[in-house]
Amino acid sequence: MADLAELVASRIIEVPDFPKPGIIFKDLTPLFADGPAFRQVIDGIVAHYGPGSFDTVAGIEARGFVIAAAIAYATGVGVVPVRKGGKLPRETHRASYELEYGEAALEVHIDAFLPGQRVLVVDDVLATGGTAAATLDLVERAGGTVVGFTVLLELSFLPGRERIAPREVHALLAA
Ligand code: PRP
Repeated sequence: MADLAELVASRIIEVPDFPKPGIIFKDLTPLFADGPAFRQVIDGIVAHYGPGSFDTVAGIEARGFVIAAAIAYATGVGVVPVRKGGKLPRETHRASYELEYGEAALEVHIDAFLPGQRVLVVDDVLATGGTAAATLDLVERAGGTVVGFTVLLELSFLPGRERIAPREVHALLAA
């Protein structure tokens, strides 16, 4: 785990004042672009939860899609997109939430999960926890059972973890 934390830390580029003044954006695209590093990270997440511990993976738009699809492929399960409002074509559950920098809504198709299906929820970054809280709520409203929430990076100076407690957060790196 310490190795994975170092690996993630080494592939982050901090971008000051993006997308607006005062925000230091953590750019994880160098990690995604590094094949061996990306594989190590995905394998680490899969090993943390163990084989057979979830039935499907829900990825949060947009960078969560990248990670969720890789975990799904590695474990042979499907992937469900949790999308920004207005993007999904059929009937959805919808939750509004606040971001570190703005406001938005997330949606998931009402039939995205079988009743009781065990869902691993995946994103790249946990910041204020607004996105995560909305998504966990959506997954449960759609009939799924959340078995875990995993991110590559947790911004531990923000109260994301408290916001979704008592649900578990698995973060490869807390910074
Ligand atoms: C970022 C990040 C998480 C979310 C975390 O996504 O990828 O989804 O913010 O912030 P929070 O914990 O404060 O809610 P963003 O909303 O920028 O969307 P994008 O991935 O589509 O750019």
